[in-house]
Amino acid sequence: IPVDPFDLVIFGGTGDLARRKILPALFRRFVAGQIPDGSSIVGAARSEIDDAEYKSLVKDALREFHPGDLPEDMLSGFLNILHYVQVDATGDQGWDALAKLARPDVVRAFYFSVGPSLFGALAERLHHHGLVDPETRIVVEKPFGRDLETARALNTSLAAHFEECQIYRIDHYLGKETVQNLMAIRFGNMLFEPLWNSQYVDHIQITVAETVGVQGRGEYYDRSGAMRDMVQNHLMQLLCLIAMEPPAKFDPDAVRDEKLKVIRALDPVEPADLVRGQYLADGDRAGYLEDAEDPASKTESFAAMKVHVSNWRWAGTPFYLRTGKRLKARASEIAVVFKETPHSIFDEDAGRHRNTLSIRLQPNEGIDLDVTIKEPGPGGMRLIDVPLDMTFSEALGPESEASADAYERLIMDVIRGNQTLFMRGDEVEAAWAWTDPIIQGWETRGDRPEPYETGSSGPEDALALMHRDGRRWREIRE
Ligand code: BG6
Repeated sequence: IPVDPFDLVIFGGTGDLARRKILPALFRRFVAGQIPDGSSIVGAARSEIDDAEYKSLVKDALREFHPGDLPEDMLSGFLNILHYVQVDATGDQGWDALAKLARPDVVRAFYFSVGPSLFGALAERLHHHGLVDPETRIVVEKPFGRDLETARALNTSLAAHFEECQIYRIDHYLGKETVQNLMAIRFGNMLFEPLWNSQYVDHIQITVAETVGVQGRGEYYDRSGAMRDMVQNHLMQLLCLIAMEPPAKFDPDAVRDEKLKVIRALDPVEPADLVRGQYLADGDRAGYLEDAEDPASKTESFAAMKVHVSNWRWAGTPFYLRTGKRLKARASEIAVVFKETPHSIFDEDAGRHRNTLSIRLQPNEGIDLDVTIKEPGPGGMRLIDVPLDMTFSEALGPESEASADAYERLIMDVIRGNQTLFMRGDEVEAAWAWTDPIIQGWETRGDRPEPYETGSSGPEDALALMHRDGRRWREIRE
């Protein structure tokens, strides 16, 4: 969908996120012809540099982080719409210059690519310098607080100057192609929805596995851990999309109302249903305690848990969540494991089987449906499971992968004014309200995470969490 010319200001415009994600995403949209003439992109930060130096910084960032070619004409076209302003987030310097570049007669978006401690100050400065009108939008990144209290304080400081419909809280998982596909699969097909409840679904597994450690981000990560860094936001969003009731329309508040109901239906998690782990060193690669530079750290780099959504649809169907660093593969998937047939007409040897619908978020985005069929051959009626495999890049062509960057989609949604894929303030607070007692519980008990091998599937206790219930995690593989 085409957009009108806009001005986008990136606070923290020289920072890591801007260089790695935001600017390359904007460049790709520029190449795709989605940034109309007359638009401008303004980097704003503390560094004392001028426009030319900023352009050269952006050029370097694109060389490093833009996959594929950088055609000269596209690059110079993109650099032409870039500007830089040196701004003091808590003082007055630079704001008049910024006010000249961010024009009132077009959509103005301000991207807060800075730590949350500056959110309130930036909101206040924007207001003070007359940069806020009804068409102004702000984009804020995670971490959105570290508990309910700090998230509430952030919401309050933003609400002092902006309406909720102007605030875009990013969870980049919502921008992933397959995550949106969850909604298409559930609500665009007749096939699944009638079975999507505790009568037919035995359990659901959500896995977000990474192979990277926390090296280089140890300081931030050690104050967060997997629960704050991944579960409270990304995994909860996946859980909401899988568990929610069908919204009446694909419209921002209809979708977010349904997600909020899921979070509010979550039971507290019993300590026995929680597992935390820390990765061990492996050859040259340091272990978590070294990466965190704290030999006594009790922060978890892995978390697994059994979660109950206490509502009419899901009572009795557990959701198992796990996420961790330095695991055996980078693989994220959601698996809906259906119940066995109520009765088998085949004899014992045929075995009892289950259908599993697995939605692979990354890599190799696609959907698999395990279907039970007869094993070919004359050996009698033996049953085997065969996947109906739809890998999107094969079914839809390789372009379907190229268009999959979450930031591109989310930034353009900000410009279009579509909040469907952004978190509402009450949603974030409800997620913290559920997460807080879990974290407080293990902090009060002084629990130590269980060590696990780099390249494994996580701690033994995580496997036991499932075995206890007569179930098994799916293999973590690309
Ligand atoms: C970020 C977390 O939000 O998501 C990181 O802070 C994590 O710790 C990352 O590595 C994972 O994102 P993706 O898109 O690579 O799955």
